[in-house]
Amino acid sequence: MSNVAVVFWSGTGNTEAMADLVAEGVQSAGGKATVIQATEFSVEELDAYDAFAFGCPAMGAEELESEEFEPMWDAVEPALPGRKVALFGSYDWAEGEWMDLWRERAEAAGIIVSETVIAKDYPDEEASDACRALGAALV
Ligand SMILES: Cc1cc2nc3c(=O)[nH]c(=O)nc-3n(C[C@H](O)[C@H](O)[C@H](O)COP(=O)(O)O)c2cc1C
Repeated sequence: MSNVAVVFWSGTGNTEAMADLVAEGVQSAGGKATVIQATEFSVEELDAYDAFAFGCPAMGAEELESEEFEPMWDAVEPALPGRKVALFGSYDWAEGEWMDLWRERAEAAGIIVSETVIAKDYPDEEASDACRALGAALV
């Protein structure tokens, strides 16, 4: 059975809702999902999972959240090439540039990003379906 880690940071719950939907998609495809706060995840845990969905909203100026999520990402990024990785997160007033930058950064580090999903604020029906599909595709 595919064991998927859904690792996220969320300030006001929108990306957390996306994480739960990703986990729902994993489970509906027959996988096992573990939803983990960014502060609770570290590079030592990578080998326990077959695939990863990382979630972080747009913060700063089109940036990753810098206090908790980004330090975790900095630590795991070098160990992610060769693993199955997808990215998701919520934004509000811009158009999702932070996700483009995050994906570019990940790909420059040698990570193959299978998919990204972004949601404006709380995930609507379309974004919810996309989150579930992202989860299912990781199984
Ligand atoms: C400090 C701060 C910085 C933000 N920066 C951006 C940004 O650069 N671009 C954007 O589209 N939204 C930005 N937002 C809006 C959040 O991405 C948006 O509210 C998102 O839904 C929050 O997700 P969460 O509920 O998972 O924390 C920012 C919000 C905060 C509080």
